[in-house]
Amino acid sequence: MSYAAFRSIGSYIPDEVRGNDWFVERMDTSDEWITKRTGISERRIAAKDQNTSDLGYEAAKIAIQRANIQTSDIDLIVCATISPDYYCMPSTACLIAEKLGIKDVMALDISAACTGFVYSLSVAKAFIESGMKKNVLIIGAEKLSSIVDYTDRTTCMLFGDGAGAAIISSTQNKDEAIIDVQCSADGSLKDLLLTPGVTSDEAMYMQMKGNETFKIAVRTLTSDVQKIMEKNNYKNEDIDLFIPHQANYRIIKAVGDALKFKDEQKVLTVHKYGNTSSASIPMAMNECYEDGRLKAGDTMLLDAFGGGLTWGSALVKFSPNNN
Ligand code: ACO
Repeated sequence: MSYAAFRSIGSYIPDEVRGNDWFVERMDTSDEWITKRTGISERRIAAKDQNTSDLGYEAAKIAIQRANIQTSDIDLIVCATISPDYYCMPSTACLIAEKLGIKDVMALDISAACTGFVYSLSVAKAFIESGMKKNVLIIGAEKLSSIVDYTDRTTCMLFGDGAGAAIISSTQNKDEAIIDVQCSADGSLKDLLLTPGVTSDEAMYMQMKGNETFKIAVRTLTSDVQKIMEKNNYKNEDIDLFIPHQANYRIIKAVGDALKFKDEQKVLTVHKYGNTSSASIPMAMNECYEDGRLKAGDTMLLDAFGGGLTWGSALVKFSPNNN
């Protein structure tokens, strides 16, 4: 039996820092409102000539190098994004494959909004455990600044750009494997968070019923963790890092408090990067890796929620190759 091991993490953070002042200068809002209601102080914005695939490519290069594999070893590329370079085709995963110089590989995009990285992890795990693939590159990459309506003060200050990537590889050693990934969706709640479709005359910008989404997010993120922990017989003390999707500090605090995680277990980056959708979890994970908080053998609990509605959680052992 093959198991799936989480080998490496990498991320790319665009240079431009956009502070709350930028919004205060352009609309009826204040630094105090944004900070108090969201916890966000600044976010990163990609350059005009950078597309989502460029951000994903930069993150992927780091993840590949840290996994000690060659691009030719990769046999599946999965890119989660809601801000693809092209609306329908080619997929962003195909563009990243081209940039990496890989010509003969299966490559596909996943549309699961902020849950995209957890969905990608689930796909990678399933392909590896079935024996169909050996080294899967998963990416969460977003240029959300291209789909944000900068006249809508209720959403535009929430989002930023960035990318994260990871290599998931097959192993025979169950002790270093990803423990569990669970993903769900409820399409009946689609109207809470959407970009208008092809039959609409409205511009293709993100629209969100923030307050309703907030309440469902807190409830769902909490119950989803309780389910995966119970199913796998895990207790809070078995978790080294709790990495929730970074949408709003108040959501993370409410969920973290309900689940009774200690501060040193919780990972928080929303103040610096805002909500980067599918990139938020791998960007936060990479930060923990680079500052030494994430170490070989650690157990991470991932927890995400987003448009669709979609949600998912994962129990992941960090198992770098040079372990
Ligand atoms: N500046 C000042 N006032 C504002 C602003 C602003 N930027 N935006 C809204 N307000 C006002 C509203 O008009 C409202 O005024 P009123 O009381 O006079 O009507 C008041 O502030 C409160 O508005 P709410 O929408 O109730 O504010 P809330 O506390 O819910 O915060 C927020 C809004 C930050 C959007 C929050 O609801 C949220 O984070 N929602 C969930 C986001 C999320 O998790 N999304 C899922 C993932 S995203 C993805 O999948 C792509």
